Amino acid sequence: MSDIAARINELRQKILEYDYYYYVLDDPLIPDSEYDKLMKELVQLESVNPDLITPDSPTQRVGGKPLEGFETITHRTALLSLDNAFSLADLKDFDKRVRRVVEDIDYVAEIKIDGVSIALVYENGILQSAATRGDGSIGEDVTSNVRTIKNIPLRLQEPIPRLEIRGEIYMPKKEFVRLNKDKEEKGEKNFANPRNAAAGSLRQLDPQISAQRALAGFFYDILYIEGLNIDSQIEGLDFLKKMGLSVNPSFKRCANIEDAYEYCQDLLDKRHDLPYEIDGVVIKVNSYSPRELLGQTAKSPRWAIAYKFPAEEKETKLLDVEINVGRTGIIAPTALLEPVSLAGTTVSRASMHNFDLVKEKDIKVGDTVLVHKAGDIIPEIIKPIVEKRTGEEEEITPPEFCPACSSEAQRTEGEVAYKCENINCPARLKESLIFFASKAAMDIGGLGPAVIEQLVEAGLVKNISDLYSLKEQDLVKLERFGPKSAHNLLNAIEASKQRPLYRLITALGIKHIGAKTASILAENIQHLDEFEKVEVDELTAIPEIGEKMAESIVAFFNEPRNLDLIEKLKKAGLNIEEEKKSQEGSLSGLTFVVTGTLSSLTRPEAIKKIEDKGGKVTGSVSKKTNYLVVGEDPGSKYDKAVKLGITILTEEGFLSLIGE
Ligand code: IVH
Repeated sequence: MSDIAARINELRQKILEYDYYYYVLDDPLIPDSEYDKLMKELVQLESVNPDLITPDSPTQRVGGKPLEGFETITHRTALLSLDNAFSLADLKDFDKRVRRVVEDIDYVAEIKIDGVSIALVYENGILQSAATRGDGSIGEDVTSNVRTIKNIPLRLQEPIPRLEIRGEIYMPKKEFVRLNKDKEEKGEKNFANPRNAAAGSLRQLDPQISAQRALAGFFYDILYIEGLNIDSQIEGLDFLKKMGLSVNPSFKRCANIEDAYEYCQDLLDKRHDLPYEIDGVVIKVNSYSPRELLGQTAKSPRWAIAYKFPAEEKETKLLDVEINVGRTGIIAPTALLEPVSLAGTTVSRASMHNFDLVKEKDIKVGDTVLVHKAGDIIPEIIKPIVEKRTGEEEEITPPEFCPACSSEAQRTEGEVAYKCENINCPARLKESLIFFASKAAMDIGGLGPAVIEQLVEAGLVKNISDLYSLKEQDLVKLERFGPKSAHNLLNAIEASKQRPLYRLITALGIKHIGAKTASILAENIQHLDEFEKVEVDELTAIPEIGEKMAESIVAFFNEPRNLDLIEKLKKAGLNIEEEKKSQEGSLSGLTFVVTGTLSSLTRPEAIKKIEDKGGKVTGSVSKKTNYLVVGEDPGSKYDKAVKLGITILTEEGFLSLIGE
């Protein structure tokens, strides 16, 4: 093997291992910057030696060409569906049916993740194909898209001759919310739930788009295996894990059906805390040999059943509709509801998304409505209960004018949203300011929605840059402002001038550019003035910057109004340069994990403090962790840290470490 081939091999091995620790075990081994360096080297070596590229190289996750349509794949083993149970009685019936055939069995209970069923085929350990369930015997070939999913290995830990498995592709709740927010800002139709969003993303003909949606997979079933004997579900799950596949950790062996039911009840409470949506529990006979005796019906196996959670829906009254104008001018209706307790919180407002949807669902003010939470998070009206109408209900009509500035509400062909196109609209200005000052952007403490409202109403701020010329004598004239609070606010605004460049880029609110992308951009472009000159192809040459993002950036920096704002911010003395990576931070080179409830600061605040001082924060404790910061109720991370002999810091200890 040539030196180059050997180095390529070495890089691939390393990256595959780091991927496994990062995406599957959630336990990163090295800092992101080091990982990026290895990846860059591999991309570079492969680009000059294209004949050495193999399909399992980690560089081959993204980059496939858009497809014309999906080919089909015939499943070697039919992908069956499951019978449903809704009560303990249903489960007991299932158990009786099972024990009539085989008496001595145990069960495994697993969460039933609400995603899209997928079948993967690995040959000699290399991912060959991925297909949707389709009608159970023929599915769609979505291999190119599945290859972009970071927690699905392109190569298994061992070269098993043939392995066919089944699992679920899902979209985490957070990603679902992000994607829908993004869609709303673009005036596009929302996905109804994470399952639809996952299915839609998986069925994107352009793998590049699919790659931008943070999908993930969990695997739970071995359909076929060559070269190895596996005798039970638990053995199978352990084997999948060992091969580098993600297995949901919450499965449990249950000695009898009552235990399995208890597991269901337990999850019913816990499900809102999970980062993905689940719609029930799957209970399976553990050992494979009784499964053979039990067999299957045309549709489903007799050795498994899905216990479905009751849908979380409640009736309440739609009291009124509030019409809001967002930062980008979108005018959207929000339902004001009679408060109702739903999926763990009290809900009194619900997004109605757009007026087309209101019309489509025929919702009227005064209606009794059925509400739920989309993605377990976003309260939504499912439908009005038409039978409960009294005749007093009022139509909801789209606005003709912007409720904040009275300019005409406009609608672009093909978009669902009504928009206020007046960039000086006070409502848009308020929203832009709220975003500019928010934690994710310039992080100006004390400058929240209420203060912004006062500043705009008093005419003190007509443009974002006006924040930087506010005077104490103006502020003290405002209600609830004394010399001290005025002073504090001005200090916070002053301090924001020193924020890193990526925060300013985020704060500008450029379409498609969130904090993460802004950070990549700042690292590569390094000076605000350079953003004004940058071209689309230079931007798309940066890893992770797609065409749409690049076009949006160029358009933003070509718009005279935006350039005017930037000029004013520069004059005000804001930092416009990327700092050289702060090796000199007092915590640089140190890795922290924060767990439990802290009393004087929130977890994001603690994380920010660590990162501002050059430290790194990871989600889980490993040998690489230097400090575990613990609050109240720290849980298993604490036990693990103790076991590994990692230094534990109380909140006071942490604050004193960072000199506060
Ligand atoms: S087992 C023959 N296990 O639920 C056994 N299915 O309603 C096949 N699902 O189409 C399925 N989580 O897509 C199984 N832990 C789990 C599951 C699971 C989600 C889905 C699967 C299936 C649907 C049946």
